[in-house]
Amino acid sequence: MGEIKKLGIMTGGGDCSGLNAVIRAVVTTAINKYGMECVGIQNCYRGLYLGESQMVPLTLDNVDEIIGDGGTILYNSNKDNLFKYPRRDKNGIVKGANGKPLYDNVSGVAVENVKKAGIDALVIIGGDGTLTSGRDYSRMGIKVMGVPKTIDNDLNSTDQTFGFDTAVNRNVDAVDCLKTTGKSHHRVMVLEVMGREAGHLALHTGIAGGADAIIIPEIPYDIVKIKDRVKKALLSKKQYSLVVVAEGAPSPEGKSVISIVQDTSPDGVKLGGIGGIISKALEAMLNSERDENGYAISDTIMDVECRSSALSHVQRGGDTSAADRVLCTRYGSAAVNLLVEGYDKHMVALRNNEMVPVPLEEVIPSSNMSSNFKPVDPNGSLVKMAKTMGICFGD
Ligand code: F6P
Repeated sequence: MGEIKKLGIMTGGGDCSGLNAVIRAVVTTAINKYGMECVGIQNCYRGLYLGESQMVPLTLDNVDEIIGDGGTILYNSNKDNLFKYPRRDKNGIVKGANGKPLYDNVSGVAVENVKKAGIDALVIIGGDGTLTSGRDYSRMGIKVMGVPKTIDNDLNSTDQTFGFDTAVNRNVDAVDCLKTTGKSHHRVMVLEVMGREAGHLALHTGIAGGADAIIIPEIPYDIVKIKDRVKKALLSKKQYSLVVVAEGAPSPEGKSVISIVQDTSPDGVKLGGIGGIISKALEAMLNSERDENGYAISDTIMDVECRSSALSHVQRGGDTSAADRVLCTRYGSAAVNLLVEGYDKHMVALRNNEMVPVPLEEVIPSSNMSSNFKPVDPNGSLVKMAKTMGICFGD
C-alpha cells in the first residue's frame, strides 16, 4: 500500500468515554513515530459529506491534555448514514406517499471529499453502525482502519470495546450511593442501565455492586423468582435490596420497553423505562403478601417501598477510567501501526490481550449488523459465578 502521509480521524455513533484518549494515541503515534499529518473530521459522516468546513488539523499540542476527558473533540453523530441519508427541504425531512422518510445515497460525495483533502487513510472510531459504513467506504477504495467503541461491549470481533469499563465504574459509583439510601429506608432500589439488546453492562454492574438480582435480555426471567430473592434480602440482616436491570430486558409480560421511536436513527427505537416497570411490579407483589399483623416483611418493613433510578446518558459521560485510558491508548497506537504495516480495510481488535487486525468484512459480514452482535452467554462462567454468589437472574 502507498505511503500514508495524511491521516483522517473521526468518531461516530453514540459517544462514550475514551474517544479522546484514542484520538490522542492515534495522533501522537502518527506524528511522533511516522511523521504523518493528522486531520480530524468533525461530526463523523456528516463531516465527510460537508467536507473542508468540518476538517481540523490535529497536532501534538491540541491532543496533549485530553487523555482523560469524556466526550470527543471531534463530535459524534449516530444518524448520518450517507448510504441512506434522509432527504430534507424547508419543512424538514421529506416523506413519501406512505409517510416514511425518503432517503438518498450520497456516499460518493464523501469519497470525493476525502480525495480532495488529500487524506490517504481514515481511522474510524465507532460501533457497529459506524463500522458498517466504514466497511462500505473501504469497498469504495478508501483505506480504513476501524477502532471499536461502545459502552455496550456487544461487538463480537473484540474481547472488549473501550468505554465499557468507564461506564461500569460510573454505574458502580451510583450503586454505592443507592445502597446507602436504600439501607437507610429499608427499600428496594432498582437501577436501570443501558446496553441496548445486551446485558454486559448490567451483569458487570450487578456483580461489582453486590446486587441481589440482575435482569438481562439474554436470560428469560420469572418476576416471582426475582421477588422471592428480593424478599430474602429484606428479611436478611441488611434489610434492603438492590436490583440491576438492563434496558433491553423485556417487561414481565415479555414486551420490549421502548422510550423513543426514531425513524431516522439506524436503531429505529431507543430503549428505556423497564426499571420503573420492575420496581412497580415488585412493590405490588411484595405488598400483596402479609403476615397476621398485616406486615409485608416485618415490624421494621411493614410496607415495602421500591424506587427506580436510571442513569441513562450519565453512563456515557465524564472522565475516562484508568483501565480505559490504557486500552484506548493501545487501540489508537495499534490502529496507526497496523495501517502502516498495510492492514487496510481492517479493525483493530483486542484478542487474548493482544492488539490484532480483523478484516472489516469479518467484523461486519453483511448488511445484517446483528451478525456481529455479542450477547452475554447465559451459560458462561461469569453468569455461573454470579449465581454462586447468590445473585438471582429470575431463571
Ligand atoms: O449503544 C450505546 C447506547 O448508549 C446504548 O446503550 C443506548 O441504548 C443508546 O446508545 C442510546 O442512544 P442515544 O444516545 O441515541 O439516546
